[in-house]
Amino acid sequence: MTFLEFLLILLVLYYVIYVLLWIVLDCNVALWYKSRFGVSLSSMRGQVVWITGASRGIGRALALSLARHGVRLVLSARRVEQLEQVQSECLAAARGLLAQKDVLILPMDMLELEKHQSHLYTVLNHFEKLDVLVNNAGRSQRANWTDISVEVDRELFELDVFSVVHLSRLVVRYFLEQNGGRGHLAATSSIAGFSPVPFSATYCAAKHALNAYLLALKVEQRKLDITIFAPGPVATDFLQEAFTGSQGTKVGLSTANQKRLTAERCGELFAVSLANKMDLTWCGLFPVNFLAYCARNSTLTKILAQFMTEKTLNKIREGKL
Ligand SMILES: NC(=O)c1ccc[n+]([C@@H]2O[C@H](COP(=O)([O-])OP(=O)(O)OC[C@H]3O[C@@H](n4cnc5c(N)ncnc54)[C@H](OP(=O)(O)O)[C@@H]3O)[C@@H](O)[C@H]2O)c1
Repeated sequence: MTFLEFLLILLVLYYVIYVLLWIVLDCNVALWYKSRFGVSLSSMRGQVVWITGASRGIGRALALSLARHGVRLVLSARRVEQLEQVQSECLAAARGLLAQKDVLILPMDMLELEKHQSHLYTVLNHFEKLDVLVNNAGRSQRANWTDISVEVDRELFELDVFSVVHLSRLVVRYFLEQNGGRGHLAATSSIAGFSPVPFSATYCAAKHALNAYLLALKVEQRKLDITIFAPGPVATDFLQEAFTGSQGTKVGLSTANQKRLTAERCGELFAVSLANKMDLTWCGLFPVNFLAYCARNSTLTKILAQFMTEKTLNKIREGKL
């Protein structure tokens, strides 16, 4: 066998194993690798992480994963009783690493944009800093493309995109003014945010839009860490609250008995993504993970991003290069 043939066999073997991992794993390969060999979650101990949509589902699971490692938390959502419950669960999970004052309950409706600034002041007054904002609150959708009223398009975008962008802008301004541009912004996107799925057109568009907002920020502010975490189907109650095509109605279905990743596993993987400051990660059971890989071809984009500054990119967009 020649050296070239040997190299070729190695290459084929590498790709066979890589594709097998797409089938076997419940998340992208880099995230799985970091969960085993990356920075430990305890590196975040003492940091202040603000999670929206923390009263249940993925937000609650993420809060618990972080609390176990002594990460200080701000828990936000509309339902105060459920937030209090999550606060107690976090303190129990922390096993003495956190005191009551380290897990702040901050009730908020993401749609009340006019209150976002005072909510941020509350966080800063309490902890005197903020390290990570996790934009997790959101609602999904089930509807035929043709049946969706434009009012639903607007309402879903208000919550899943504009409220997130509004709060993030305030926090990024804080990072720029107080931290020299350093800080960590994260969002729960969705695999539907880069690979469209049927019967959720507005939701797909909203998560694509959210990703685009965050990616655009990243090319402007290189010191910021940005994590786009994109789950596939996860076992939460989110179908209860999901939009339909008609204004004022909800899907109202349970996800029980559906093949979905558990919220606990999703929260763990989200926490690993944060601790390792990963830019884009995803998770989902087979075939979701496999399909997510097929839908992506980001290698060239990443290589190009290494060589192109924001000025170069802007020149190309403005037709000056
Ligand atoms: N579950 C999945 O399969 C899946 C897949 C991909 C992506 N995601 C994304 O993951 C995120 C969390 O979803 P989930 O599955 O955990 O859903 P969930 O169980 O329904 O939780 C949604 C959270 O958002 C909060 N929320 C909803 N509207 C709000 C508002 N106007 N203001 C403030 N908080 C609000 C809810 O709290 P209150 O009702 O107390 O306000 C709740 O804590 C969403 O962004 C969703 O798009 C979910």
